[in-house]
Amino acid sequence: MSSAPKLTIEGLRATIEGKEILKGLNLEIKGGEVHAIMGPNGTGKSTLASTLMGHPKYEVTDGAVTLDGEDVLEMAVDERARAGLFLAMQYPSEITGVTNADFLRSAINARRGEGNEISLIKFIRLMEGKMKDLEMNPEFMHRYLNEGFSGGEKKRNEILQMLVLEPRLVILDEIDSGLDIDALRIVANGVNAMRSPERGFLIITHYQRLLNYITPDFVHVMMQGRIVKSGGPELAQRLENEGYDWVKEELGIVDETVGQEDEFKVPMNTTAPRY
Ligand SMILES: Nc1ncnc2c1ncn2[C@@H]1O[C@H](COP(=O)(O)OP(=O)(O)OP(=O)(O)O)[C@@H](O)[C@H]1O
Ligand SMILES: [Mg+2]
Repeated sequence: MSSAPKLTIEGLRATIEGKEILKGLNLEIKGGEVHAIMGPNGTGKSTLASTLMGHPKYEVTDGAVTLDGEDVLEMAVDERARAGLFLAMQYPSEITGVTNADFLRSAINARRGEGNEISLIKFIRLMEGKMKDLEMNPEFMHRYLNEGFSGGEKKRNEILQMLVLEPRLVILDEIDSGLDIDALRIVANGVNAMRSPERGFLIITHYQRLLNYITPDFVHVMMQGRIVKSGGPELAQRLENEGYDWVKEELGIVDETVGQEDEFKVPMNTTAPRY
């Protein structure tokens, strides 16, 4: 598939263990666009990413998600990957017994479909090239997936997956966390090299720093399981300078988090510390 993707999220509500975390989220991402989502901790950003990928723990209770008009919520996880959805996770899992090479080759073949598998020699060449771009030691091919990888190595490995899978809709959840300054630049270069009219990006981050390298077209603020404010790159700059209080004040939001039991909430207008 080489056409421009369009992901549409309308009124999305999702629960985990009976707690509603996504509370009517709307967002549209088209090919060529980079959207950044920022927001305080615990406002539902990773939940959005996992829900889009079909993580079984999250139950969608209302709303719609379509990719090129196709119902994503009806698709199994592997079908979503085949349709071109990709998530670089905030906390990538370690999988003992499966090497990085095994994992990536299976993932590539799953994406390519039966009868169109990549040959071993082409796979090795592809991996060597991409690992060189990411300045990764080739030995990572033969290590078990993420096992014992440092925080930054895990993140680089997520980007390696993105580079070889060539997804159409890329979600990066805090790809910058744990990266040193050089790695941040390398990862950002990898992302920028993938920017194309045939690919859209959703980048979840806490820091303007990443957005200095990857200039977003749109910046959204997430609070209470919804996108509450949208703007351009200048919005990220203002958040970096001033924090979130002005957004909360503007919108009359007292507690931006979701899913917390009321008894754990700090009452309004107190100076009690928040843990
Ligand atoms: N598996 C789970 N079980 C219980 N609660 C969960 C689970 N997953 C998410 N939550 C809760 O949902 C809320 C939103 O979590 P989420 O990870 O989406 O936040 P976030 O915006 O990504 O935060 P951060 O910026 O810290 O990564 C949190 O209160 C979290 O504890
Ligand atoms: Mg998160």
